[in-house]
Amino acid sequence: MTSEKIQRVGVIGAGIMGAGIAEVCARAHVDVLVFEQTRELAAAGRARILRSLDRGVSTGKITEREREQAAWRLRFTSDLGDFADRQLVVEAVVEDEKVKSEIFAELDKIVTDPNAVLASNTSSIPIMKLGIATAAPERVIGMHFFNPVPVLPLVELVTTLKTGSTVARRAEAFAADVLGKQVVRSSDRAGFIANALLVPYLLSAIRMVESGFATKDDIDKTMVLGCAHPMGPLALTDLVGLDTVKAIADSMYEEFKEPLYSAPPLLQRMVEAGLVGKKSGAGFYEYADKGRTIKK
Ligand code: NAI
Repeated sequence: MTSEKIQRVGVIGAGIMGAGIAEVCARAHVDVLVFEQTRELAAAGRARILRSLDRGVSTGKITEREREQAAWRLRFTSDLGDFADRQLVVEAVVEDEKVKSEIFAELDKIVTDPNAVLASNTSSIPIMKLGIATAAPERVIGMHFFNPVPVLPLVELVTTLKTGSTVARRAEAFAADVLGKQVVRSSDRAGFIANALLVPYLLSAIRMVESGFATKDDIDKTMVLGCAHPMGPLALTDLVGLDTVKAIADSMYEEFKEPLYSAPPLLQRMVEAGLVGKKSGAGFYEYADKGRTIKK
C-alpha cells in the first residue's frame, strides 16, 4: 500500500494554480479529477487549461496528440464526495484559512486511503493550521507549486510536526518522479522559503509607487535591466494576483507581527477596487484577454 504509485489525483479549485496543477498532472499521464464550486467555474477552469495546452502545442512543447490525451484525462466535478478514491489531493482554492480548513475537514472524511496525501498549495498559511482541521494530520502536507505551473520547475514541500514520513515520501516522489519537478523542503512557518523572501520585496515596490518615490515602469525596469530578473515586482504582483499577495502578506503579518509584512494601503485599495492583476484584466498594468499587456 505505502509504495503504491499515485495514479489518481484530485485538484480542488481551477483558478490560476489549480488549473496549472491539473494540467501538469494530466500531461504526466495521471487521471485528474478537478473540483470547482459550480459548473460555470468548472467550464472556465477547463477552458483555462485547454488554452494553456494549446499554447504548449503552438510553442512546440507538446504534440497535438499529447494535448488531446491530457485533455481526455481531465474530469470535473462539483461534488467533493467524488474524491473518495483519490490517492493525492492538491487543494488550490483562495488563500483563506477558514475556507481551506473547511475543505480539509470535509476531505478528511471523504478520502479513504490512510496513506493518501492531502496537500495544500497555500502560499503562506502554516500547514499545521490545515492539519488540525482533520482527524489525521499525518496525511496533510504542503505542496507549493509556482506560477505558471507548467513552466516553473519547483515544488516547495512543507512538512508539519505531524506529517507522516510515508506521506512526505509519496508527495516528494510524485512531484519529482511523476511531474519531473525539483523539490525543496521547508519547515512549517508562514511564507515558507519563497514567499518569506519574495513578498516583503513586492510590498516594498508597492510602497515605492504609493509614496511617489519612483514610477512603476522605472521600478520594474530597474529590476529587469539592472538585476536580471525576468520581470519586475509590479508585473509579478499582477501575475500572482493582488488579492493573493495581500492574503499572503496578511498571514505572514499574523505569524510574525513584522511591519515589513503588512499590506500597504494602496494594495488594500486596489484589491477592494477589483484591480487584482492579470486575471481580472487590470492591476498595476492593463491586460487584454487577461493575457497580453496593452498599456504600460
Ligand atoms: P485564483 O483566484 O486564480 O483561484 C481561486 C480558486 O479558489 C478558484 O478556483 C475559486 O473558484 C476557488 N474558491 C474561491 N472561493 C472558494 C470557496 N469559498 N470555496 C471553494 N473554492 C473557492 O487563485 P490562485 O492564484 O489559483 O491561488 C490559489 C492558491 O494557490 C492560493 O492558496 C494561493 O496562495 C496559492 N498560490 C498562488 C500562486 C500565484 O502565483 N497566484 C503561486 C503559488 C501558490
